[in-house]
Amino acid sequence: MNRLYDKLISYREEDYYPFHMPGHKRNTKLCQMSNPYSIDITEIEGFDNLHQAEGILIQLSQRLSLLYGSEKSYPLINGSTVGILAGISSGADRGSKVLIARNCHKSVYHAVVLKELRPVYIYPNYLKEESIYGGISVQDVEDALIRDPDISLVVLTSPTFDGFVSDIRAIAKVVHRHGALFLVDEAHGAHFGFHRGFPESAVTKGADIVIQSMHKTLPAFTQSAVLHSNRTDLNDKIERNLSIYESSSPSYLLLAGMDRCISMLEDSGKELFDLYYARLNEFYSSMNKLEHLRLIKSETKGSFGIYDMDPSKIIISVRDTQLSGHVLHTLLREKYHLIMEMEAPDYVLGMTSICDTQEGFLRLSKALLEIDNVQKAAGNKGCRPSVGTIRPEQVMLPGEAAETDTEQVPLERSAGRISAVFVSMYPPGSPLLVPGERIDDEMIQMIQWLQREGYTITGLNKETKDRIDVIAKTLH
Ligand SMILES: Cc1ncc(COP(=O)(O)O)c(C=O)c1O
Repeated sequence: MNRLYDKLISYREEDYYPFHMPGHKRNTKLCQMSNPYSIDITEIEGFDNLHQAEGILIQLSQRLSLLYGSEKSYPLINGSTVGILAGISSGADRGSKVLIARNCHKSVYHAVVLKELRPVYIYPNYLKEESIYGGISVQDVEDALIRDPDISLVVLTSPTFDGFVSDIRAIAKVVHRHGALFLVDEAHGAHFGFHRGFPESAVTKGADIVIQSMHKTLPAFTQSAVLHSNRTDLNDKIERNLSIYESSSPSYLLLAGMDRCISMLEDSGKELFDLYYARLNEFYSSMNKLEHLRLIKSETKGSFGIYDMDPSKIIISVRDTQLSGHVLHTLLREKYHLIMEMEAPDYVLGMTSICDTQEGFLRLSKALLEIDNVQKAAGNKGCRPSVGTIRPEQVMLPGEAAETDTEQVPLERSAGRISAVFVSMYPPGSPLLVPGERIDDEMIQMIQWLQREGYTITGLNKETKDRIDVIAKTLH
């Protein structure tokens, strides 16, 4: 029988290189800690209480607040997921109307279900040429708030999973002018604000609540995250909600890992980011030789709602080749032992951080040039469904639909029915279908196409993967 620990150890001994999270990249030269067993304690005398921090943990929180420039920061041990659940629960009253970017992570939708919120969706701009979501336009936010003046909270994801940043400063002004609160899911931006080569964080751009996953883009253990609050009047609610959603046995290993990460940034952040940025630039320059594969870079800035772009995300477009994202992803893994973060129909995404090595960048650059060399220009790639252009009709509220009687039907015969489940491509984990949305032929064809092409779709019947839970017929 395969045992997890043994498998991890033998994986460690192989030469797989991580272009994925966590951001410490298993770089044990840069990141060091004692044997985990020797420092894994619980909340004993002298070590404070995460749910009522007054001692050593309040100091951790204060250092985070100073580092990022927030009014108050809360270290989290259940990922951004818990920060988003607590942040939305604190910013929106039960049953209230909220404006949500449709490309938000599933945790945002889970908060909508839990608090029985009434979501109004705003769609990010879609770069059809690249099959990728861009940013949210300031004007679209303003229009939505004018149409629905009773919206009390706006929730956007910036940067997107792919690194596109919206104009948070301008959006914050609009949101506040309309009397709403502004929460930014900055899960992919914990490294923002430390170097001029990377975008500024939403924390200093006027957002009320900002949530970041330290583990995604910084050297911290998986699940390490932070909630920044710039609204001291909300802090009591935030603390109450965090104690509901967060474990009552917080891991001191994760907290110690955050402490180490903050120390690294305080002590040598400048040098580490300078070196990292220089390596990234060298990598991007080496990619100028590509003839068929193509990196999506900052040339998109200023259009499609894109205010800024995070260079840490390496987006390799296969649009002008015979390859699909899935094929390139597989090739990089199987032939070159380079493990990327995500595949999409038209691109593959790699994540980088201050812990990436020169060797890692060289391996990726060499592999991509070699693959490019044997490509021919693509002919017609055929008709492929476009993930970002489908806008399902909301028939029931997600909270209502998630608790109603359901039945399971074959996906291919589900047109016209109302989904009772979230169906997502994973990663990134933002839903294609939300409970309460009507399924149509276009959606069915897209899900089936993604499955045929080898992408992971979650939310369908776990065994057969071709059946879907829908609202029982008697109910509509
Ligand atoms: C945009 C976005 N928000 C939130 C999350 C949840 O973060 P975590 O995994 O730290 O709970 C993710 C996870 O991938 C994400 O991509």
